[in-house]
Amino acid sequence: MEKPKNDLFLRACHREPIERTPIWLMRQAGRYMPEYRELRKIAGNFINFYKNVDLAVKASVLPRKLLGVDASIIFSDILTPLESMGMNFEFREGEGPVFLNPIRTPDDIQKLKPLNTQDVYYVGEIIKGVNQTLHREVPTIGFCGAPFTLAAYMIEGRTSKDFKKAKAFMYNHPDAFKELLDKLADSLIDYLNFQIESGADAVQIFDSWGGYLSPDDYREFSLPSIKKIIKNVKRDYQPIIHFTKGVAGFFDDMITSGADVYSVDWMIDLSVVKEKLNGRSAAQGNLDPIVLYAEKEVIRKKAISILNKWGKDTGHIFNLGHGLMPDMSVENVKYLVDVVKEESRR
Ligand code: CP3
Repeated sequence: MEKPKNDLFLRACHREPIERTPIWLMRQAGRYMPEYRELRKIAGNFINFYKNVDLAVKASVLPRKLLGVDASIIFSDILTPLESMGMNFEFREGEGPVFLNPIRTPDDIQKLKPLNTQDVYYVGEIIKGVNQTLHREVPTIGFCGAPFTLAAYMIEGRTSKDFKKAKAFMYNHPDAFKELLDKLADSLIDYLNFQIESGADAVQIFDSWGGYLSPDDYREFSLPSIKKIIKNVKRDYQPIIHFTKGVAGFFDDMITSGADVYSVDWMIDLSVVKEKLNGRSAAQGNLDPIVLYAEKEVIRKKAISILNKWGKDTGHIFNLGHGLMPDMSVENVKYLVDVVKEESRR
């Protein structure tokens, strides 16, 4: 496929020379945008929204059009592939995802089916649609959840502050839990390969809950399945980004996963990240999203501080440490994008 006109993001992922730091934002298409809320209203509910290729393409390209970000992540969700594996869930207003048949026993794991990529054909169509609509202006990012994070939702049945059911299951049935992680990894390899074949320029693995594990448990339960995915995704120039939220305590372990880019939250200093990576991989992050609720001058200062921590070398993609929130100001988000573009010129 034709390479994107603006390929700063891909060059930074591969630590090739860049004229300025590329920026995109996790959850960049979301409820904080009035245009998103309009599309969401047409779809009715979130699942109808991400399964509707036309609407999902429109949502995916909004941040490029309205904010000028350097990459488009497809509008979808980490739970998307789980339906094909036999999980039934819905998204409830104000509650988030709720599973109707959560995993309760090791036997339930035996009943799971491998992902059939035909069941997620719409994700491939969304990737193609974004590439067409944007005329290859910027790279398109595909994604999946990390096996641990998905397993946590499948067992807990809903979002949670501590994922106590999921972790208790992991401690009581470590072998069954690992079998679940392995089944998920195999399906996610197929899922990411399918996204790359459909035209994704890069893929990100979201391990939003991996940081809730102790370092020992992270090494035992989350990291191996991420390594397996990274090793088996077939790609040529397409980088893999590995995001584990809350990784400060075991960043040294995270960076053995084999990813091209490590995405980190704000609880670790970016200069420490740079020192530890030592030119071997790129980094993505790591502004505290809450900064976007502050005055513009604070946003500018905090963004510049992150840029300075990395310095002028290539290998940094500016992002938040976690996603944008529904009540954030579009004006402030746009301001951040502009500041990073201006202040990072080489
Ligand atoms: O980054 C992007 O813009 C791409 C799209 C994207 C969404 N979810 C859209 C979404 C991505 C990459 C995700 C990933 C995702 N989904 C994660 C990992 C990243 C993270 O934030 O930690 C997780 C844990 C989920 C599961 C999930 N999806 C939850 C817990 C919720 C509810 C959150 C809430 O605030 O209500 C969702 C729903 C969801 N996913 C929304 C969006 C835009 C809101 C849906 C709506 O319009 O109501």
